[in-house]
This record gives sequence, C-alpha cells and structure tokens, in this order.
Amino acid sequence: MEPVLLDTDPGIDDAAAIAVAINDPHIDLQLITTVAGNVTVDKTTRNALNLVSFFKAGIPVAAGAEQPLIKPFEDAARIHGESGMGDYVFPKYDHKPIPQTAVEALYTTLKNSPVPMTLIPTGSYTNIALLLAEHPDVKPKIKRIIAMGGALHGGNMTSAAEFNVFTDPEAAEIMYQSGLPIVMVGLDVTMKALLTDETLAQLGQMGPAGVMLQKLFTHYYQGHEGGIPVHDVNTLAYLLHPEFYTTHPYWIDIQLNGPAVGATIADIRGAYHGEKTNANVCETIDAPAFNAWFLREVAQMQT
Ligand code: BDR
Ligand code: CA
Repeated sequence: MEPVLLDTDPGIDDAAAIAVAINDPHIDLQLITTVAGNVTVDKTTRNALNLVSFFKAGIPVAAGAEQPLIKPFEDAARIHGESGMGDYVFPKYDHKPIPQTAVEALYTTLKNSPVPMTLIPTGSYTNIALLLAEHPDVKPKIKRIIAMGGALHGGNMTSAAEFNVFTDPEAAEIMYQSGLPIVMVGLDVTMKALLTDETLAQLGQMGPAGVMLQKLFTHYYQGHEGGIPVHDVNTLAYLLHPEFYTTHPYWIDIQLNGPAVGATIADIRGAYHGEKTNANVCETIDAPAFNAWFLREVAQMQT
C-alpha cells in the first residue's frame, strides 16, 4: 500500500479525490489537511470531515492555511457552490478536526513515518510551502509530490493561470524550487480527462457513493461544456495508473506578478535553465481509460 498525505480544498473535484483516496485498497491515506481555496478553510475543513464521516473512515483531518502567503484570498464558490459541495447536503455529523494545524500534522506524520510518503496537493500549495519553510528537515521523508495545478499552455482562472497556482503563486514557487521530485498534473491533462454523460449516468447506479458524486458533478456540470473535468482525481489516477499519462521533465518557474501572475512557465526549449528540470509534467492522458478506471473506483466504494 502506498502511504499518502492529501492536502485539499474541497471543492467538488477534491471530494471525488478524497473518496478515491479513502476507498482504494492500494492507498494508505494517513492524513487529510485542508487549505483555503475553492471556499474558505472552515468550509473546506467541514467538507473534508463530512466526506470522512460519509465513508466511515477514521482518517484524521487537520485544518490549514486560511489565506495565501501574500496574495489576498479569492474563492471559487461560483463554481463549487457556497458550501463548496454544490447543493449537496451531508447529514449532520459530529466530527472535529484534530487539534494540530495542517503544518504540524504533516510534519509529525512525515517524521514518524518509517518510509518516505507521497504528498498530494489538490488545492493551493500554502500548507506545503509553510511546511518546507518551517521544517526543511522533513524533506527526506517526502518521496514525491503529485500536485494538481498549472498548465503548459493557458489557464482557467486567467488566460495564463490555473486556479490552484493563481491562488497562491508564492507558495507554488517555494514548492517548485524545493528540489523535491514533483509531478505536475495540470490543465493539459485534466481538461482532456472529462467525465462523459454516460459516466455521469452510470454513477447514479453505483450505490450511495455514486449517487453522492453524481449529485456533486451535476452541480459542477453547470459551469462546463463537453464533459466534466474532475481535475483533482487525476493526481490519484496518476499515482495508481501512471500508464494513463505521458510525461516530460521541464523546469517550471512561477510568474509572481503582472497579468500572467500564477502562470507555470515551463522552460520547454531549455533556453533559460538548460538541461535542468524540477518537475515531471503530465502532457497527455488516455481519457477512455481514465473514465473506465473512475467508474471501477466508485463501484467499490463502501459507505
Ligand atoms: C483546480 O481548481 C479548483 O477549483 C479545483 O478543485 C482544482 O483543484 C482546477 O484548476
Ligand atoms: Ca482542488
């Protein structure tokens, strides 16, 4: 089993990623940490707790950064709904975050782990940047980071920037400059791995988890055309099925100001950094294989 830490801002596609990470038998999910992003951190934390309760999983949830390192916080409630979960309403669960902050919990979990762990951020990278800045001694315990965010070309927040990196560009820069092995799972693949109408219809036949995800995605559909992007789920698909993707190593810099703030600049020609690279960037995806895999994941979810 792969020991995994998930840092997230649920968010509809984050909810699906959490559901996969909790239920897949090959993943040993040890901790969920939350960050402000799609909605405020009190809401992303509540949503993470609700998902853990929904699946009757005993995964600890630690609340993280309320705002980016420097930039003012801007949410994405217009896409994910006021609560972050569309109009889906979970039962009232009495479930609280652990007393440690996200950074403290990440640090102690990593330090106490006998083996290096995979860190998967599906929100902005504020908690990760704070962890690396405050506890650089933790680096040998991070096997790799599989991060949703960025794009080789274009953006979904501005014409140049993807939402997670746009939300906290300084944190992204710290993460990409850390020297840790990073897989960038960006819009180049997540906007091609669209859930089809057929997949959406099949979810509703797959028990309580499928019904919950179908309701969430139906809300998400309202902002999208031609299929539903489930960006964050791609991090777990990459973890479990890297063969769905092709990747290429590049050096990634983050644009920290101006109209392209939050852009991930890949040194595609090696004109600036030469042979040096700091990330393996996902470039293509086998979308039919992704859809089929996602349905298999949901079919085996237990509530
Ligand atoms: C990313 O932005 C968020 O709204 C999604 O949850 C995903 O992590 C996609 O750009
Ligand atoms: Ca997210």
